[in-house]
Amino acid sequence: MMFSWKLEDQPVDTTPPLLLELRNLTTVFPTRRGLVRAVDGMSFMLREGEKLGIVGESGSGKTVTLLSILRLVPHPGEIVDGEALFLGEDLLHKPRTEMRKIRGKEIAMIFQDPLTTLNPVFPVGEQIRESLGIHNIVSSSNGWLSRLFDRRRIAAEQERVIQVMRDVGIPSPVERAKNYPHQFSGGMQQRVIIAIALSCEPHLLLADEPTTALDVTIQAQIMDLLNKINREHGTSVILVTHNLGVVAEFCDNIIVMYAGWMMEKGTVEEVIADPKHPYTQGLLRCLPRISEKREKIHPIPGLVPDLARLPPGCPFSPRCDQAMPECKEDRPFPLIELGEGRLVRCLLY
Ligand SMILES: Nc1ncnc2c1ncn2[C@@H]1O[C@H](COP(=O)(O)OP(=O)(O)OP(=O)(O)O)[C@@H](O)[C@H]1O
Ligand SMILES: [Mg+2]
Repeated sequence: MMFSWKLEDQPVDTTPPLLLELRNLTTVFPTRRGLVRAVDGMSFMLREGEKLGIVGESGSGKTVTLLSILRLVPHPGEIVDGEALFLGEDLLHKPRTEMRKIRGKEIAMIFQDPLTTLNPVFPVGEQIRESLGIHNIVSSSNGWLSRLFDRRRIAAEQERVIQVMRDVGIPSPVERAKNYPHQFSGGMQQRVIIAIALSCEPHLLLADEPTTALDVTIQAQIMDLLNKINREHGTSVILVTHNLGVVAEFCDNIIVMYAGWMMEKGTVEEVIADPKHPYTQGLLRCLPRISEKREKIHPIPGLVPDLARLPPGCPFSPRCDQAMPECKEDRPFPLIELGEGRLVRCLLY
């Protein structure tokens, strides 16, 4: 009691701990037409339990950002600069064997194309069990004791598979575990994929367009499911999507990417209510609103650039309605901090 005034005076730091920090991550693809900087100097922080959305047009580097974190960039792509600190340790310098343990166990990814994740020739229960990291290896000894242990272990694994399927909302999981992927609808297949990603209770889930192929009601159910996982398990999520509406509803923070550059970052409320970058402003103008009977939507003029033939200066400048002569000059375009965690890469600021 004597010291209570002192305790009350202490400022309580409620900021969740840092989970992932990218510093200047740069991933390139050498192509016959020139070097493509698919991700160019990406830096951001992600806290435990945070939901971060990455948006941008096709080819802006969203998938390559996620693949770089997991060191799964396909050949001939290469991470040439930067750091990816996960719980303070740089993933880019971890031995391959350690990286293999981190993938799936600590960080799981839902890939953009669901059909590449599921194997058509195995029942889904089997595939979920495999992702638990414990394969159905029956011990070499024939003793009755080891047979008893094998049976118990297999039963425990089976129970865990059923539990994970139940968690992601697959009805009748005991029977459904024996079914093959083609016996599931698109939405149910996506739930199986999420079950596989979650089976090891990762700290971080990288979800690359998890709902793009699904119709809107199923989309909403999958987003509800990701929300529930985030709430109940504190799993952080990086959600990559074309759909700004999904980000607005699901995410805490948002990053807007264009041609490998991070153009803007902030809380969802800030960025949607007051977009700073002309590209973000353009993306928001493209959003159709059901509530307003607009005459027409306003697409951003021009096409997504060819990354192997980028003009000097800001890659968005050829399509930007506010571009100034210096935007087309070969000069640095630093990220400008407009407030805490509010960033924009544009010469207007
Ligand atoms: N395997 C590859 N070989 C060569 N270049 C590649 C390869 N994968 C990606 N790239 C380059 O990296 C850029 C970024 O690709 P990425 O897949 O990250 O885009 P994205 O933002 O995920 O687009 P989408 O919304 O279409 O999925 C592409 O424009 C392309 O130039
Ligand atoms: Mg992609």
